Amino acid sequence: MSPSEEHVAQLDRLPRVNLAQLPTPLEEAPRLSEYLRGPRIWIKRDDLTGLALGGSKARKLEFLLAQARAQGCDVIITVGAVQSNHARMTAAAAQKLGLRSIVVLNGEPPPQAQGNLLLDRIFGAEVRIIQTDDDYVLMGVVADLERQLRRDGRKPYVIPRGGSNAYGASGYVQAWLELRSQMMALGVRLDAIVHASTSGGTQSGLYTGTKLADSGVQVVGISAGPRKEVVTTRVLGIVTELVELLHLPWRPHPDDVIVYDDYVGERYGVPTPACLDAIRILARTEGILLDPVYTGKAMAGLMGLVAQGRFTSAHNVVFWHTGGQPAVFAHAGALQEG
Ligand SMILES: Cc1ncc(COP(=O)(O)O)c(C=O)c1O
Repeated sequence: MSPSEEHVAQLDRLPRVNLAQLPTPLEEAPRLSEYLRGPRIWIKRDDLTGLALGGSKARKLEFLLAQARAQGCDVIITVGAVQSNHARMTAAAAQKLGLRSIVVLNGEPPPQAQGNLLLDRIFGAEVRIIQTDDDYVLMGVVADLERQLRRDGRKPYVIPRGGSNAYGASGYVQAWLELRSQMMALGVRLDAIVHASTSGGTQSGLYTGTKLADSGVQVVGISAGPRKEVVTTRVLGIVTELVELLHLPWRPHPDDVIVYDDYVGERYGVPTPACLDAIRILARTEGILLDPVYTGKAMAGLMGLVAQGRFTSAHNVVFWHTGGQPAVFAHAGALQEG
C-alpha cells in the first residue's frame, strides 16, 4: 500500500534545512547473515549522513534547526551526556547556519576531552558539564541559561535531549520513505527494522512512517540505557505529537511499540561484552564500524534475537546504523583486547 499522498505532502510542507547527504546507502551484509546463520540483513548507513562525521541526528536537525530559523533564533541550546552524538552534530549544524551553540552535558568531566566532547569544542560549542544524573537538575540549568540569554537580548532555541520531539522525529518519517523506495527498487519485502533507541525520536519517526502505508514492517528498538517502559512511554508521547503535526487519522497503540532492554547491561554508556563482540564481528565480517554506546548494543540485540529464533533465514531485516563512532575513541580501553 502507498503512503497517503496527503500525509506525505504534510511532511513535505514542514520547514527543513539541508544538512545531511541523502539518501544514505543501503548496504547488504551477506557475510554477517552467513556468520549468524540468520536473516538476510541490510545496513542502512546513517553513519554516512556526512555532517560532522555522520550519524542519525543530521536528519532530525534538518527539521529542528528549520524551526529555530523560522523563529529568528540566534543561539541553539541542547543537552546530552558527555559523549553525546547529538550535541556534537548540533554544534556543527549550528555553525553551518551561522548560529551560536551551547551544549549542556551531564556526567564526569574527563581529564582530557576525547571523542564527541573533543569535537563539540572543535565545532565551536560553548560546553557546560554538570555533574548530575538528574534530568530535572540539567533542565533547570537550561532554563536559567535561557532566561539569562533572553535578558541579554538573545533569542535561544532549546532542542530536547536526542533531538527527540515531533519535529526531530519527522526526519525519521522521511527516512522511512527513503528506505521504502530503496527496498522497492531491490524488489525485497522487508519484515523488520532493528535500531538503537533511547530518547525515542528515531523509533517514533520510523514507527509513524511504517504506519503511514500500513506496511506491516516491525520497528524494533534496542535500548542503549533506559528501561523498556521508559523508552516506550517516550515513543508513544512523540508519536502522539507527530500524529497531530502531520494530521494523521490514527492513534498509536502501546502494544505496537517494540522495545528490548535486555542488551543494556550495567547502564547507559557502559559497553557490555556482547556489545564489544558485536562491534568486532561487524568490523570483521563487513568492514563496518559500530559504536560502543548505541549501535554496538543494538547489534548485540539483533544477534540475540537471531539466536532466539525471532529472526530466521526466512526474514528480511534492516539494521539501521545510527552512527556514533566518535565514542569508539573515548572507550579505547574497553576495545583494546579481543
Ligand atoms: C548513535 C546513536 N544511535 C541511536 C541513538 C538513539 O536515538 P533516539 O535518541 O532517537 O532514541 C542516539 C541518540 O543519541 C545516537 O547518538
